[in-house]
Amino acid sequence: MCGIVGYTGNEPAIDFLLDGLARLEYRGYDSAGVAVLNGGNIAVEKTVERIGSLKRQTRNGRSLPGRAGIGHTRWATHGAPSLANAHPHLSADGRFAVVHNGILENDAALRRELAAEGVAFRSETDTEIIPHLIRRYYEGDPVAAVAKAVERLAGSYALGVLCADCPDRLIAARRFSPLLIGLADGATYLASDVTALLPRTRRVLELADGEIALLTPQGARLFDREGRPVEREASRVTFDVGAAEKGGWAHFMQKEIMEQPQAVAQTVERRISGGEIVFSGLRLDAALLSRIRRIAIVACGSAYHAGAVGKYVFEELLRIPTELDLASEFRYRNPLVGADVLTVVISQSGETADTLAALREAKARGSHVLSIVNVVGSSIARASDDVLYTFAGPEIAVATTKGYSTQLALLYLFAVWAARLLGRLSADEAGRLLDAIRALPQAMERALRLAPQMEDLASRSPTDGSIFFIGRNLDYAVAQEAALKLKEISYLPAQACAGGELKHGSISLIEEGRTVIALDCCDRLSDKLAGNIREVQARGARVIACVPEGRAEPSAADETVRVPAVHPLLTASVEVIPFQLYAYFVARDRGCDVDKPRNLAKSVTVE
Ligand code: G6P
Repeated sequence: MCGIVGYTGNEPAIDFLLDGLARLEYRGYDSAGVAVLNGGNIAVEKTVERIGSLKRQTRNGRSLPGRAGIGHTRWATHGAPSLANAHPHLSADGRFAVVHNGILENDAALRRELAAEGVAFRSETDTEIIPHLIRRYYEGDPVAAVAKAVERLAGSYALGVLCADCPDRLIAARRFSPLLIGLADGATYLASDVTALLPRTRRVLELADGEIALLTPQGARLFDREGRPVEREASRVTFDVGAAEKGGWAHFMQKEIMEQPQAVAQTVERRISGGEIVFSGLRLDAALLSRIRRIAIVACGSAYHAGAVGKYVFEELLRIPTELDLASEFRYRNPLVGADVLTVVISQSGETADTLAALREAKARGSHVLSIVNVVGSSIARASDDVLYTFAGPEIAVATTKGYSTQLALLYLFAVWAARLLGRLSADEAGRLLDAIRALPQAMERALRLAPQMEDLASRSPTDGSIFFIGRNLDYAVAQEAALKLKEISYLPAQACAGGELKHGSISLIEEGRTVIALDCCDRLSDKLAGNIREVQARGARVIACVPEGRAEPSAADETVRVPAVHPLLTASVEVIPFQLYAYFVARDRGCDVDKPRNLAKSVTVE
């Protein structure tokens, strides 16, 4: 949510600012801006359109010379997307410029305090308070002024600050919002996300919560809350820069859908040694696990839908009651968790504010927290007792696909591993399941070959009215994800309904010509779902069913999509693929911005 970049070095700052912002645009894209320091003055340029127009406005950066600067791409929280609300924000005298990611919780009080001192606000944002505060505390040392200002802030922030008196310096600070410093010869970079840094450097310093950094072209000095210097070694980012680029695909989403078999293979194979599942470094052991009476899975969005699959798989293999909660609900419902509850947190970005808050809530109540996260070193990863990384590589499209699939793979592996540890699964059964998990990438590869059929179905998809996804058990978990994919990128109303629940309300929406997609991979419940299919057909619906290849009985549906047959506990992994493709083709054909759907953001770092 919102992207931050910064540069100080020997080259024109604007080159990196514009390139970095374009790479971070997926984090928020309702407006953007840059500030560059030149000849002792700060020049600002903003847009309420995409980064491309910032490039045009600045004549590809030529109108903004200078070797230090900051930039921001915004996802509006306080105030509508507008030029006034776009970052960077300036102090009244224009000597400080600030970009901010996060959300302040005491902004109203600080605004009143500053207004009483005569500060005239130019925007509705919480961020604008920060340059005014820094200016108030500035007595010649910008780092000290930023330190005093951030001491006054409640809430979350990642900041990039430019001071007109310091020609080649940037100041950075963070609390509960990610911020990284990139080190290179003759240049130092700032970014909220490593994807912006990768084309320039792989040497990265992570700023910890509460720290402040002073960036110069020669490097960065870090300070803790009390202003004491902090020594930290830079780490090396290992993943491939190409992974964050489209590589010939029309959209990141399409590329990421196609990458799923490979991403799942990486996630799984790295955990297997000598035919056994190995989670090295996990604190959760047999003793701790045997004290667990309940599992609480907590997540948001598609990660929550992965959790819905996890719930079925955990209860089946572990025979431990498993609850599934939306993080935003869990954190405010006085949850009943303690030392006998294992909290499993799922998050692709590792930065989702509600998920992080739920994690902290669970931990404070004594629960052991195991997280399933994609972004290494993210806030959720660092705050957890144990982390299992998904190794999906960078995911850029706002609508997740490979993030979700790799989460499923880790949930399966974890369930098999824990069931073995608890003695609830024989070595033979575990071996069979592990073989089935390892065979998933091949089955997913075959499911991807359904692209032409899904493209054809998408071309005949209704353009108005709701599309229904129905299913039972694991099929229902997939139905929820399939409906979310379709609505988030195509803006078509789509809803998921558990087959058995249809007649308790949703069936009243079924009328002549309504499209119902029946997810029918759960063999033991296929007869039950067949009843639901007939019920909606009787009311005029056109039904598309998704069934496993090789199922003997013909489906009552009007059209059929056949996915590879896999182990009954693992069907979600193949069944979701045609409907990711379907959502993609529907959105593309409707001319929607597939990778950057309206009003959404990739990582939701505000509550
Ligand atoms: C946003 C994204 C979704 C994602 C959800 C949770 O809404 O658009 O794709 O599922 O956040 O994100 P997380 O990073 O915690 O998995």
